[in-house]
Amino acid sequence: MAVIQITSDDTWQIQADGHPLRGSLQVPGDKSISHRALMLGAIAEGTTHIEGLLVGEDTCSTAACFRALGAEISHLNPTAVTVQGLGIGHLQEPGDVLNAGNSGTTMRLLLGVLAAQTGRFFAITGDASLRSRPMARVVTPLLQMGAQIWGRQHHSRAPLAVLGQPLEPITYYSPIASAQVKSALLLAALHTEGTTIIREPHRSRDHSERMLQAFGACLSVDEATCTVSLEGPAVLKGQKVIVPGDISSAAFWLVAASIIPNSELVLTNVGVNPTRTGILDVLGAMGAEITLENERLVTGEPVADLRVRSATLKGIRIGGELIPRLIDEIPILAVAAAFAEGVTEIRDAAELRVKESDRLKAVATELQKMGAKVTELKDGLDIQGGVPLQGTHLETYGDHRMAMSLAIAALNAQGTSHIHNARAAAVSYPEFVTTLQQIA
Ligand code: S3P
Repeated sequence: MAVIQITSDDTWQIQADGHPLRGSLQVPGDKSISHRALMLGAIAEGTTHIEGLLVGEDTCSTAACFRALGAEISHLNPTAVTVQGLGIGHLQEPGDVLNAGNSGTTMRLLLGVLAAQTGRFFAITGDASLRSRPMARVVTPLLQMGAQIWGRQHHSRAPLAVLGQPLEPITYYSPIASAQVKSALLLAALHTEGTTIIREPHRSRDHSERMLQAFGACLSVDEATCTVSLEGPAVLKGQKVIVPGDISSAAFWLVAASIIPNSELVLTNVGVNPTRTGILDVLGAMGAEITLENERLVTGEPVADLRVRSATLKGIRIGGELIPRLIDEIPILAVAAAFAEGVTEIRDAAELRVKESDRLKAVATELQKMGAKVTELKDGLDIQGGVPLQGTHLETYGDHRMAMSLAIAALNAQGTSHIHNARAAAVSYPEFVTTLQQIA
């Protein structure tokens, strides 16, 4: 077995021995769907029952914000949660600043909801990473709808202040494919009279559209033109939501089992919404052996069990419309590429520079420290695979996906790796390192 220790200074020490990964795993609930279930539950009428909720730091931030806004949300542990909604437009003005922590989804989607709470004042902040991330992509279209929002750097950085207003519907051509932008505008549009239309350059994840329809919103999607229209004002009714496992968390095990010889893992109950399965397409094209079993639809979302066996991977070129379908998986994909034969070219991924860390820089810097041949480009990475990696001291930049990606790289490297600031993983996958200790 690999030796994996968690030290008191928040470091994962990983010394691999090539032990194959075998067995069956259930990854935690999907982060995007969990946020949306809590939010729609809070603004719907009646009770929403959520099963399989992700209890991670990000979703706890969403729950804390909506509790401060007056919604009754039951204790988040275990993962079955009930939300007593307040109804559209009825959030209360909190007596203090809302804190979205590290969560971009919480802050951006919440801005859409808060902007429409007429006559109430809100302030929202986050941690140092979130305060440095761009909010203009949401604030600009909300201002076009008539919102009043103030913040640093021309209203583009948190802390942000919002004075709720009656909003007007708009037609918005988003310059980026972003589910957070689209969802923030849809949430605002729920409160407006008329049709709000949002068009994206490529399709981003569509969990909001699916869940809004299930809660009773009048919404239509034109897939060919990547356009969503919502007719407001809406009346949402509390629902039952069963959250599938997060494919973004499953991705770490898909890559680990692919690159460690003689491995075979079954990941049960994973969400396989086609707007999220770019990682399956790309790993498949690289030669990975992944099969979908027991495919089904669970409260409006496609779900399957994923079986993965180790395989020889080869480099590939990715970009364009694929990027939004695997945007959060690029760090772990870079690890797969480092162990693949030939070159992997990742393009059109400049968005990675404004995630929880600058992920292009972070991935290139840390994999280079391990001996990988990685070139950082303005909008992507070139990775020459097949160079053996060496364990060393590694930094997560406080980014959950960096912590877990580096752990998988360490699992297939020679010598010992020390991954500092590893607790960041708790943002989306608090049990990750315990699971690693059990199976590696
Ligand atoms: C998310 C959308 C994506 C993704 C993020 C979660 C969501 O961000 O990277 O982790 O839940 O809507 P963008 O909308 O900025 O692409």
